[in-house]
Amino acid sequence: MEIYIKEGQIATKNLSPGLKVYGEELITENMVINDEEVEVEYRLWNPYRSKLAGALLNGMSKLNIKNDYKVLYLGASTGTTVSHISDIVYNGLIYAVEFSPVTMRKLTRLADNRPNIAPILSNANKPKNYLNLVEKVDFLYCDVAQPNQSELFMDNVNLFLKEEAKGLITIKARSIDVSKNPKKVFKEEEKKLVSEGFRILERIKLEPYEKDHLGLLVEKGLY
Ligand SMILES: C[S@@+](CC[C@H](N)C(=O)[O-])C[C@H]1O[C@@H](n2cnc3c(N)ncnc32)[C@H](O)[C@@H]1O
Repeated sequence: MEIYIKEGQIATKNLSPGLKVYGEELITENMVINDEEVEVEYRLWNPYRSKLAGALLNGMSKLNIKNDYKVLYLGASTGTTVSHISDIVYNGLIYAVEFSPVTMRKLTRLADNRPNIAPILSNANKPKNYLNLVEKVDFLYCDVAQPNQSELFMDNVNLFLKEEAKGLITIKARSIDVSKNPKKVFKEEEKKLVSEGFRILERIKLEPYEKDHLGLLVEKGLY
């Protein structure tokens, strides 16, 4: 996976040089490629704005998003995290599902400069509505912050994720039950996934970037 982690910071190589997406810092480095010195531009990836960046900085190591991956992203919002995955899958494609029309407008503008983003205005609770738009994917990311997020994630995995490919779900304890101890909520959500045949590959707390959030990297395979 082409990400750059150095001294507590994470960055991706900018697919649309010169353009920022959410006010992030751009940095350039001189590199020698095929005996030629070229300038390469990176975008710093803010872990306080993106749970995926937080999970990677907190040590998630079993996720390897390759440059030609097809990705299904649920809860794309305005595209902060989508944009960094777009940098990583420069030969692939992201199906970015979002159900808010207002947010979708910004996401669509982002896709104008990034041909590997396919925005889909739809409700991730009804994946059959985009069955004819989305192919089987190599990675599924779910960040919807909804009470039924595990069920929604599993429904989408069952329809769209390739066998033995990985999915990542971010669990926001307070979206599921504000009155319960977050540890208990995480255990219950994990149990739901395991009982449906998912294997938990990594569990990563997202503090200090996000309070009471857990990232679960899972695999659904033949075992
Ligand atoms: C926490 S925000 C996502 C932030 C985004 N993943 C990022 O890192 O840039 C959650 C998003 O999920 C969207 N959402 C919530 N429920 C949804 C559903 N059932 N279908 C599609 N989008 C949903 C919300 O509108 C919101 O934009």
